[in-house]
Formats: sequence, structure tokens, C-alpha cells
Amino acid sequence: MKETLALIFGGKSCEHEISLISAKNIHASLDKNKYDVILIGIDKSGGWHICDESVWEDSQDLPSLSKEKAERYPAVAVIPDTKTRGFISLGDSKQIVSVDIAFPITHGPFGEDGTLQGLLRMAGIPYVGADLLSSSICMDKSVSKKLLEANSIPVLPFMEFRNSEEVSRKRIESHLKLPLFVKPSNLGSSVGISKVKSWEELEEAVKNAFKFDSKIIIEQGAEVREIECAVIGNSYPESSVPGEIIPINHEFYSYKAKYEDPNGADLIIPAKLYPDQVDVAKRLAISAYKILNVSGFARVDLFLCRGNFFVNEVNTLPGFTSISMFPKLWEYSGIKYNELLDKLIKLAKEKHKLDFALFLDL
Ligand SMILES: Nc1ncnc2c1ncn2[C@@H]1O[C@H](COP(=O)(O)OP(=O)(O)O)[C@@H](O)[C@H]1O
Ligand SMILES: [Mg+2]
Repeated sequence: MKETLALIFGGKSCEHEISLISAKNIHASLDKNKYDVILIGIDKSGGWHICDESVWEDSQDLPSLSKEKAERYPAVAVIPDTKTRGFISLGDSKQIVSVDIAFPITHGPFGEDGTLQGLLRMAGIPYVGADLLSSSICMDKSVSKKLLEANSIPVLPFMEFRNSEEVSRKRIESHLKLPLFVKPSNLGSSVGISKVKSWEELEEAVKNAFKFDSKIIIEQGAEVREIECAVIGNSYPESSVPGEIIPINHEFYSYKAKYEDPNGADLIIPAKLYPDQVDVAKRLAISAYKILNVSGFARVDLFLCRGNFFVNEVNTLPGFTSISMFPKLWEYSGIKYNELLDKLIKLAKEKHKLDFALFLDL
């Protein structure tokens, strides 16, 4: 029997357009003999809509769902009870749509940080990817790094600050040296991140990071190679071969290098590493994934610094366009894009069964 799948995309994050492209690629690859796909688009101001394929038609290079464009599509809301397991159209029809599974491909705050995952859990809808606990842990750089450190996973030294008055050169100098990376704790896409190469730059960098979060981290900057592993699985996760991101003409993998400069970085698959380095990278990626309680999938980003690996971060909803690192790494390892989607859906159902086993009988 066909299953109804809600593909959820868009949202308020600065990766809105990437999310739409990921969703377009996922939609094109999902086997329509297996799935009836319902397109749920979250517009740039946060409104939810039931869309159709015209959502990807756009006058701009990159498709987006602006508030104005979204008015074409009926508004929709999640029904927060585990009986309906679905959505209600807020248009005149008040149509109720029950779904078998949700596939959120949303990035950043309200998409990747556990909030959306919590909403789907309330509604009893199985969903692809990390659960709410893991999503929120992985979104918080400070919490996730502390957990990794406590479990002997190497991370670069860092300090956490909750207000700018606490930040002083003296305090920092007792733990770290220049250059520093100043980052909002809960964000992504390199937004609000600065590299600080002289003490004069510190105040501005701290001010900027606090614009985006009430908690920031200041981390030891280092000369690094950026190695990424695509990990998939629930209790027995597996890692792809590692790939490498090489920012070109940018001091680091900044917002500009990621999204504004089409030649901002090279993706190297597989990363040029010695066989024993490949083993270490994969092992570290899987350990970090398990420690941070991830299920489904995640991209684990590592730094290679003077022969030593450090875990930088675990992205629970990495870019999923057909040219993104995550699917490309698995393609190299022999798993095609559409097979990957089926695997992720299967993992989501398995996890949901376990999580809800106790509640279903109530
Ligand atoms: N400690 C560091 N040393 C060197 N480069 C860093 C460091 N921290 C971050 N970077 C650079 O900044 C980029 C973004 O930082 P990251 O912590 O991954 O934040 P985000 O979640 O926004 O991707 C990294 O991909 C890397 O290029
Ligand atoms: Mg990153």
C-alpha cells in the first residue's frame, strides 16, 4: 500500500533556499509508486502552507517561498494529537490529511534545533532524522562540545560566555591564544561567526555574535583541514568515506564562501587521507554521533590539525541537494540518492516504533 509522506521544507533560516532545492531533489527522487507526497512549505516569515510543485517555479535563480508567494497556497497546521497524525488545512475546506511519515528538510533554528521535531512527536508522526533531544543538543555548540569532551572526544579548546561583560582579554588569555573564533552557540551557516586575529577585533566580534544568541563561544582558532563524514543509522550507525571542504579565496568557510560565492569552496570526495586517518575519522564520526544521541542521519564535521582530528560539529539536517556533501559521500560509497531516501524513511519508522511502543497501546 502507498504511504503518505509529508515533505517539509523552507522556514525562516538563511538556508531557506537550500532547503527548497533539497526538497525539490528529494521530491523528484522519491518513488511515487511507494509514496503519495504532500508538500508542506514553511514561508520566510514562518507560515505553513500545503504547496504543489509550482512552489519551485521562481523568477529568481534560487527558488524561495516568500510571504507573498505563499498566499497562493492554503495555510495548514499540525494537529497536536497522536490520533490524527497529520495536518488540517486552514482554508475553507478544513480538510484533514493524515500522514504516515514526515521528512523535514529544514535547516537552522525552528527546523533543525528540535522544535519542529518536538511538534511532530506531539502529533505522533514518525519523522526522518534526529529526534528532538539530539537535534537540540547538536544545535548548541557549547552543550555538544561539553558532552563530547566529557566522553574523551577531542574538540578544540573553547570558552562559553552568557554576557559580553564577562568577556575580557585577561580571562581568555589564560586559556586560549590568537587567533580565536567567536561564534553564537545556537546557529549555523557561519552566521555571526568571526575570526579574531588581534585583540582589537575581539569586542566587535563578541558584539556581533551576541546579536544572534544569548550565549556565545570563543574557540581556539587553528590551521585546519575540514573533513566531513556522512553518518547514517540508529543503534548501529555507519560512516561514509570522509570528504573534504576546501574554502577558496576565503579565510574560512564563511557565510559568503558557503552561499554567496559559487566558487567559494571545493568539495573533494574522497578526502585525500592516509588509510589510518580514514579509519580514525570514521571512528570519531560514529562515536560523536552516538554520544550526541543521533538517529537517522547526520553529517559529522571534523577538523584535521597537525595530524590530529577534532570534532567540530554534528549537523543533524545537512544540505541534501543532489550535489550536497551528504548524498555525494554516500553515492561514492555505492548508495544512490533514491536508495538513501528509502533507507532514511525505514530508519525513521524503526525509531518511531521503538519510541512509541509504550504509548501506542494506551
Ligand atoms: N576553531 C576554528 N579554527 C579554524 N577554523 C574554524 C574554527 N571554527 C570554525 N572555523 C571555520 O568557520 C566555519 C564555520 O564554523 P562552524 O563552527 O562549523 O559553524 P557553523 O555551524 O555556522 O557551520 C568552519 O567551517 C571553519 O571554516
Ligand atoms: Mg559548520
